[in-house]
Amino acid sequence: MADQKQFLLSESDIPKQWYNVSADLPKPLDPALHPGTGQPAGPEDFAPLFPMELIMQEVSQDRWIDIPEPVRDMYRIWRPTPLIRATGLEKALGTPAKIFYKYEGTSPVGSHKPNTAIAQAYYNKMEGTKRIVTETGAGQWGSAIAFACQQFGIESKIFMVSASFDQKPYRKSMMQIYGGTIVSSPSTETEAGRTILAQDPNSPGSLGIAISEAVEVTVQNDDTKYALGSVLNHVLMHQTVIGQEAIKQMDMAGVYPDIIIGCAGGGSNLSGIAFPFIPERIAGKDTRFIAVEPEASPSMTRGKFAYDFGDAIGMTPLLKMHTLGHTFIPNPIHAGGLRYHGMAPLLSNLLEAGIFEARSYHQKTCFEAAVQFAATEGIIPAPEPTHAIRAAIDEALVCKETGEEKVILFNLSGHGHLDMSAYDNYLSGEMVDYAYPAEEIARAMESVPQVG
Ligand SMILES: Cc1ncc(COP(=O)(O)O)c(C=O)c1O
Repeated sequence: MADQKQFLLSESDIPKQWYNVSADLPKPLDPALHPGTGQPAGPEDFAPLFPMELIMQEVSQDRWIDIPEPVRDMYRIWRPTPLIRATGLEKALGTPAKIFYKYEGTSPVGSHKPNTAIAQAYYNKMEGTKRIVTETGAGQWGSAIAFACQQFGIESKIFMVSASFDQKPYRKSMMQIYGGTIVSSPSTETEAGRTILAQDPNSPGSLGIAISEAVEVTVQNDDTKYALGSVLNHVLMHQTVIGQEAIKQMDMAGVYPDIIIGCAGGGSNLSGIAFPFIPERIAGKDTRFIAVEPEASPSMTRGKFAYDFGDAIGMTPLLKMHTLGHTFIPNPIHAGGLRYHGMAPLLSNLLEAGIFEARSYHQKTCFEAAVQFAATEGIIPAPEPTHAIRAAIDEALVCKETGEEKVILFNLSGHGHLDMSAYDNYLSGEMVDYAYPAEEIARAMESVPQVG
C-alpha cells in the first residue's frame, strides 16, 4: 500500500483548551495604547467594543484557556479537520520532501474563520449583545461571523470591502443565507465612509476603512459590539485548535515538521497552525516558521515595526506591529483577506524575535502554484492560501536540489469555490501583478503616529 494520505482524529480529540503564546514570548508584548492619550489602554477602553471575557483573554498571560463546552460542541460540525499528505504534489515535483497540509476548508463557510467566530459569538451572547458589526475583505470572515451569529441568535451587520463586494457576489448570498446584513465599504452610512468617498468616489476600499466603519457603528449603539476576524491576541489564540490537532496528526504520521508555512493577512491562520509548535522551538527544536504575504501589501517584509492604528481613520487603540501605515490602500489583488496594512502584534513580536521569517510573492506565481496543487491534490484553494502553497512548493524544490527529506507543513486555510472570478482572471491571462507600490507606501508611512 502507498504511503498513508489522510490523518484523521475523532471528535474527542477536539482540543479542550486554547494555547496562549503570550505566556511563552521571549520578550513581552508591547501594550496597546489609547488612541487619545497614548497611554496603555485598560480593559475599560475596550469595553464599548468587545465583551469583557474577550478583553480578559486579550491581556491574559495564562498559557491555557478552557474552551467553553457550547463552543466545543459547535466545533463538532467540522472539527477536527483533516491533515493530508500531499503525495500527488510531492510526486509531480519529484521532491524528497514530505509535504503535509492541514485543511481548514471543511468548515461550513470554507475557511478557518469560524474557529474564532463561534467563540466570539458565544461570549457576546453570554454578555447580552444583540448585534455584532464587523468588516470583511474576501467575505470569508463575514460569512463566518454571520454563521456564528445565527447559531447563537445574534444579528450581524458586515461592511464588505468594495473591491471584493464586486468580485465575490456569492459570498454576499452566503452571508444573507445566514441572516447577515451586508454593506459595501466605503459606504455613505458612516462618517468614516463618507470621508473616504469624498477623497475618492471610486475607492476600492480596504480592510482598514471597513474596520473604521464597523467601529463607528458599534460605538454609537449600546446593544452592538464589534468583532475582528484577525490581528488581536484572542483571535489568534482561538485559532490554535488548528496547530494542536496538527501536532497529534503529525505524530500519527510519525514525523515532526521542519518547516511550517502559512499565508498572513492579519496573521490568524498562520498563528493558529504555528503557535502550538512554539514551546518545542523555544526548547531547542529548529523548526522554521514562514509567513507569506502578498507583494501588494508587504507589511512584514517592507513595513516598519511601530505603533499604528488598526483602522484607516485612526479610531482603534494603537498596536505595536509591522505596518505600512494605516492610510495605505493596497491594490485590488484577488486575495482580499491579505489586503491589510498591519500584522498581528503577536506575530510581529515573534518576527522581531527571529522565530518567524517572512517572504512575499506576486499573485500570478501564487495562482500558478494553486493550479498545480489542484491538478495534483484536487482541492482548489482560496486566493489567500495560494501564497502558502507557493512557498511550500518552493521549499520542496529546494529539497529537490539539496536532496534533503524535509517535512513541510502548511495551512490550507480555505477552499476557493466562491473565488472562481479570480481563477477566471488567471486562466484568461488577464491577471496582473501590481508593481511594488513604493510611493503609496512611503506616503502612508507618514501617517504612522509618533509615539513615545
Ligand atoms: C481563507 C483565508 N485565508 C487567510 C486569510 C488571511 O487572514 P489571516 O492572516 O488572519 O489568517 C483570510 C482572510 O480573510 C482568508 O479568508
